[in-house]
Amino acid sequence: MFKLRISILAVMTIMLALAWGCKKRIAPIPADLQRQITAGESVFYRKDCGKCHQVNAFGDAHQGPALTSVFLAMDTVFIKAHLQFTEISAMPPIALTPHEISAVTQYIASLHANMNTPANLKDPDARCPVCGAEVESARAVANSLQVSHQGKFYYFECPDCKAIFLRDPDWHSRSGYTRFN
Ligand code: HEC
Ligand SMILES: [Zn+2]
Repeated sequence: MFKLRISILAVMTIMLALAWGCKKRIAPIPADLQRQITAGESVFYRKDCGKCHQVNAFGDAHQGPALTSVFLAMDTVFIKAHLQFTEISAMPPIALTPHEISAVTQYIASLHANMNTPANLKDPDARCPVCGAEVESARAVANSLQVSHQGKFYYFECPDCKAIFLRDPDWHSRSGYTRFN
């Protein structure tokens, strides 16, 4: 009897371990991208970008547009060009090294996902294919933020990303979240 109990325990442990191992994990943000985002955040504060662009309650003036739109998250080329070629913009030129421009670009592109990732996210098992935000698929389903395309399910953290995906599901499902590729 005792032996039987031990082997039941052993089998259960193995099954639990297997279930844990098979659980879908999302790929982490690549380390070098994460480093750039962190460096970019400090450029943002050092250069006082928050004087005009409010981010996370930092800065009180609203002279510049919000930098949290999903369009910026999808378009690092635009952000970079905006900071490189200040003569085409209504924004006053701010001296930035190429390194600072790359870093702050990645920081700005990460803002949309960050802003929309709930603080109480416990068990993310998907990434938004548009902006890269971490998503709990069950919560996305509950909020109708799920799309099925050619036999595969995609999960979103916000209605904006879902709407953008639906404009061109072929392209988005092929490319995945491009900043990670
Ligand atoms: C003095 C105010 C001011 C400061 C400081 C400032 N910006 Fe701006 N920014 C603006 C204004 C105004 C615009 C809109 C320009 C336009 O529409 O051509 C803008 C636009 C932008 C945009 C384009 C947003 C979009 O959706 O079109 C980005 C990206 C940006 N700023 C990043 C930065 C960064 C990074 C810094 C710090 C290095 C910074 N800004 C500092 C005023 C400012
Ligand atoms: Zn998204």
